[in-house]
Amino acid sequence: MFSALKNQAAFFRQFRQRFETTGAIAPSSRFLARSMTSFLAARNGATPVRVLEIGPGTGPVTEAIVKLLRPGDVFDLVELNEEFVSILKARFDSEGDWHRVRTQATIHQLPVQDFVAAEPYHFVISGLPLNNFPADLVTSITETYFRLLKPGGVLSYFEYMYVRPVRKAITHGAERVRISSIDQTLRGHCDRCRIRRDNIWLNVPPAWVQHLRKES
Ligand SMILES: C[S@@+](CC[C@H](N)C(=O)[O-])C[C@H]1O[C@@H](n2cnc3c(N)ncnc32)[C@H](O)[C@@H]1O
Repeated sequence: MFSALKNQAAFFRQFRQRFETTGAIAPSSRFLARSMTSFLAARNGATPVRVLEIGPGTGPVTEAIVKLLRPGDVFDLVELNEEFVSILKARFDSEGDWHRVRTQATIHQLPVQDFVAAEPYHFVISGLPLNNFPADLVTSITETYFRLLKPGGVLSYFEYMYVRPVRKAITHGAERVRISSIDQTLRGHCDRCRIRRDNIWLNVPPAWVQHLRKES
């Protein structure tokens, strides 16, 4: 309980210091984490899988992932912020399910657009605040998602509800162009590959979780 409060406080500090990359006022809820991991939870067969989490922050979604990992699975995490990386390392050292899978997990501290993986992944689970980024960075990051996925693999990412329609309605000039361009990029991927969208009302703020499958 105390460490959960400490993690929330650390998240809020990063929200104030690095708004663009932190992108949220509080860590995600367990309802959002459950949706983000629903395809991993429903996996078929006994073959080990490779899982990549991008932007784990203090680890609310990681918490759901570690509970679902089985022996032989590989779990990589890519996180930019060194304060979040320290928190994640401490959790792998000390918390039940995290500690159980610690030898299967590797934390990489760098921007995901620079990350090169040994092999592609069955599941890519991303918490990046794409609506905060320059449009060309969103293009590059979403291309990275698909580069890192195996054919047939599933990408799950969340976005806060109605952010782009509202920003498009109330902004002008360069900001409106930026948001429209991000909208076009994300819509293009969703039109091509979306499997399902979940509405998560029990989160601050409420969010959509998008699930996409890379073409085989
Ligand atoms: C909205 S927070 C989500 C944190 C956590 N997944 C959650 O749901 O509470 C976004 C996270 O992405 C990280 N991040 C932002 N840009 C990144 C990038 N280019 N590469 C890797 N991580 C990034 C931030 O440091 C932060 O931890």
